[in-house]
Amino acid sequence: MGVVRVLFWVLTSLSLSFVWSFIQTIIKGKKNRKRAVAFFHPYTNDGGGGERVLWCAVKAIQEENPNLDCVIYTGDHDSSPETLMLRAIDRFGVKLLHPPQVVHLYRRKWIEESTYPRFTMIGQSLGSVYLSWEALSKFTPQFYFDTSGYAFTYPLARMFGCKVICYTHYPTISSDMVSRVWKRSSMYNNDALIAKSVWLSRCKVIYYTLFSWMYGFVGSCAHLVMVNSSWTQSHIEKLWKIPERTKKVYPPCDTAGLQELPLEMSNRNHNFISVAQFRPEKAHTLQLEAFAVALSKVDADSPSLKLQFVGSCRNKEDEDRLQKLKDKAVDLNIENNVEFYKNLMYRAPFHGRRALWY
Ligand SMILES: *[C@@H]1O[C@H](CO)[C@@H](O)[C@H](O)[C@H]1NC(C)=O
Repeated sequence: MGVVRVLFWVLTSLSLSFVWSFIQTIIKGKKNRKRAVAFFHPYTNDGGGGERVLWCAVKAIQEENPNLDCVIYTGDHDSSPETLMLRAIDRFGVKLLHPPQVVHLYRRKWIEESTYPRFTMIGQSLGSVYLSWEALSKFTPQFYFDTSGYAFTYPLARMFGCKVICYTHYPTISSDMVSRVWKRSSMYNNDALIAKSVWLSRCKVIYYTLFSWMYGFVGSCAHLVMVNSSWTQSHIEKLWKIPERTKKVYPPCDTAGLQELPLEMSNRNHNFISVAQFRPEKAHTLQLEAFAVALSKVDADSPSLKLQFVGSCRNKEDEDRLQKLKDKAVDLNIENNVEFYKNLMYRAPFHGRRALWY
């Protein structure tokens, strides 16, 4: 009996002191809130469209409101204000007025895909809360700007007294995903094993429905939401239910560089270029298979066809995916018609001229 009582008191005082330090950190952060916009973008090396939006947003704030500091929360330990500023211009042709401040995060593994082989969505979402805890307790800004789609961090940012702004490219969950499980078709986020079983599919529908509900709650904590397309807008409005605070802002595409390209093709090769990060939802394997089918249908004397994949790798999983894709091209016997370009610079380093991809 005595042991149980001691254990009870130890546990109670432990959890009380935990809650107490939690509240104290929040109060301290709130009091020391800085006049700044802090961007939650843990992967500042990913080279995708999301990163371009980030740099355009930083630049826009620097132009509109020079007195407001821009701070980047990043999990890339080698990045500094100067390297990030260089990156913005080299990779995306975005010239910042001055270098952003940087806050380094050391708990990024909590949002990595590989940390959660199962229940990836909920795992990564809860992990992002922990990561944003690190971010907000290190630096509490007046404006918290999420550019990577981590909606589960918004309630915490509000507790710290921040105004929450986000740019959402894609909903974490959509009704399409739920109906795909319902119809039991397999895809990159629906295992064949689950698609085959009625019971597993039903459990997954319940999991997705609960998740949508939570996602709706956390998303509705945002003060201002920007979405990249009408497709994303309609899904986000359905999930978060704050249409009056949801605005469509198309992603900033730099077409000036493209306009410099000549329209006439000089060579006789016909190239298809597929630009996308090597991440699962881009369905590169499907593109490759479709191309193999197309190749099998053209006659031998038609001009040679090439499929060129251009994209970046964020991590080891993306690298593995790229390697699998290369192997698949060999399996399909089309390796001479397929080329891969990884992590290309936006600008060629020589002459300072834009050479786009090469
Ligand atoms: C919005 O973002 C998603 C995810 O990156 C992308 O697939 C889609 O093409 C984007 N829409 C527009 C209009 O850029």
